[in-house]
Amino acid sequence: MPEIKWNDWFWGTHYDWKDQGEEWSSAWGSSEAQWFGTLYPRLHRYLPAPTILEIAPGFGRWTRFLLPQCNQYYGVDLSPACIDHCTQRFARAGRARFVKNDGKSLAFLGKTKLDFVFSFDSLVHADEDVLDSYVAQILPRLSSRGAAFLHHSNVAALNLKEPIPHVRSTKVSASIVRESVLAHGGRVLSQECVNWGSPLLLDCLTVFTRQDSALPSEETRIENTDFMLEATLVKRWQPLYAAHVPNEGLATGTILPEPPVRDGLWQRIKQRLPWFGR
Ligand SMILES: C[S@@+](CC[C@H](N)C(=O)[O-])C[C@H]1O[C@@H](n2cnc3c(N)ncnc32)[C@H](O)[C@@H]1O
Repeated sequence: MPEIKWNDWFWGTHYDWKDQGEEWSSAWGSSEAQWFGTLYPRLHRYLPAPTILEIAPGFGRWTRFLLPQCNQYYGVDLSPACIDHCTQRFARAGRARFVKNDGKSLAFLGKTKLDFVFSFDSLVHADEDVLDSYVAQILPRLSSRGAAFLHHSNVAALNLKEPIPHVRSTKVSASIVRESVLAHGGRVLSQECVNWGSPLLLDCLTVFTRQDSALPSEETRIENTDFMLEATLVKRWQPLYAAHVPNEGLATGTILPEPPVRDGLWQRIKQRLPWFGR
């Protein structure tokens, strides 16, 4: 069922987007809690990254956290409604470009080098041809330390008899995506198969790089049946801390303000005459 045509119709016409996708973070309490409690702990070594591509941002649930982490951001989505919304929502950021595609192509990027590619809670609904197409176009564009983090279905590995929950693709698994990465000259760093809304390992988080990437790593695959427990725990403690500081739309990233530029001469004087200027 989750072919490109279905995704186009469902997200572009059928879905009302009244809560901008925030509703999908309810198990974590909020998207802010989910980013800082679940996504950022997995991704922090890859961030900040000069150029970020987000595949299928929807209404920008993760975009607001990715934007402060880069100099240039690209978001590509199948749905014109999503592209229009994000273009308006993030217009002030200046460094964000949102592009509608056909559900497979990254040609608009031309020769752009990518330092980090991110997709979460979208390509779980995509079949193997879509994953393969994106993997093939991401790899040649990754910078030497660049990496891609893709959240996709693992249902093809499960041999399920019951109806497939959460509209996952039945044609994608961790192994299928791994094969695709290898076939296109890439290297898998890790695959974390996670349970989603059930005890079943419906999904997988795959991180990959170019074969000749400067990132050293042994390939690892783990099965994490506690992903939803993680959500429950994050939901339990996060509001306690979030409540102390009003969210004025500023809780958008993790980069601290730049330290003031130091005047070299002033620094040297202070080192030699520590009492000076106190
Ligand atoms: C469930 S929404 C998630 C949006 C966002 N990632 C989030 O977590 O809030 C799925 C999004 O994926 C987009 N999408 C689905 N298949 C796609 C494809 N093959 N290429 C690009 N975008 C796609 C849809 O248009 C929609 O915006």
